Amino acid sequence: MKTFKSNSQEETIEIGQKIGNLLNPGDTVLLVGDLSAGKTTITKGIGKALGVTKIINSPTFTIVKDYIGSKCGLYHLDLYRLNGLNNDFDLEEYIDSDRVCVIEWPHQIDEILPDEYLEINLKRIDENQRIIEINGVGRYKKLEEAL
Ligand SMILES: Nc1ncnc2c1ncn2[C@@H]1O[C@H](COP(=O)(O)OP(=O)(O)OP(=O)(O)O)[C@@H](O)[C@H]1O
Ligand SMILES: [Mg+2]
Repeated sequence: MKTFKSNSQEETIEIGQKIGNLLNPGDTVLLVGDLSAGKTTITKGIGKALGVTKIINSPTFTIVKDYIGSKCGLYHLDLYRLNGLNNDFDLEEYIDSDRVCVIEWPHQIDEILPDEYLEINLKRIDENQRIIEINGVGRYKKLEEAL
């Protein structure tokens, strides 16, 4: 596990950029942490590294947002409001695609998550401080080590 400390929103975006620089099409990133931990903020950094120019913000009313990037596209999933698994939601569409797939609230779909992924755990210390723990599972161990 790699641990980073962030003292501001900007620092979290920079950490996201470092991670994004090491991601490839078809990669899966799980974002774990409470409300306002910084999951969407770190996604902004990942998107920046992928060459996404559109502003990334919480997909509040849609479960999935899809961004074009000059280096790689991005699927940003926020499963907070996913009310159990239903037929309308097909994860296969988003993982193993030609994009990077970032998932907020992945435990909503624990049963169908892939075996290998990069997990980012964000913990709120106080208003501006966050602890960010990165854990690469399977082939993502190398990415974790490269950070
Ligand atoms: N060091 C920091 N890193 C990230 N965000 C920070 C930091 N310090 C303060 N913040 C603030 O915390 C909030 C994080 O919001 P963000 O939308 O990224 O959280 P989230 O984990 O995606 O929440 P949700 O579960 O509601 O989607 C923002 O308002 C941001 O400005
Ligand atoms: Mg969010």
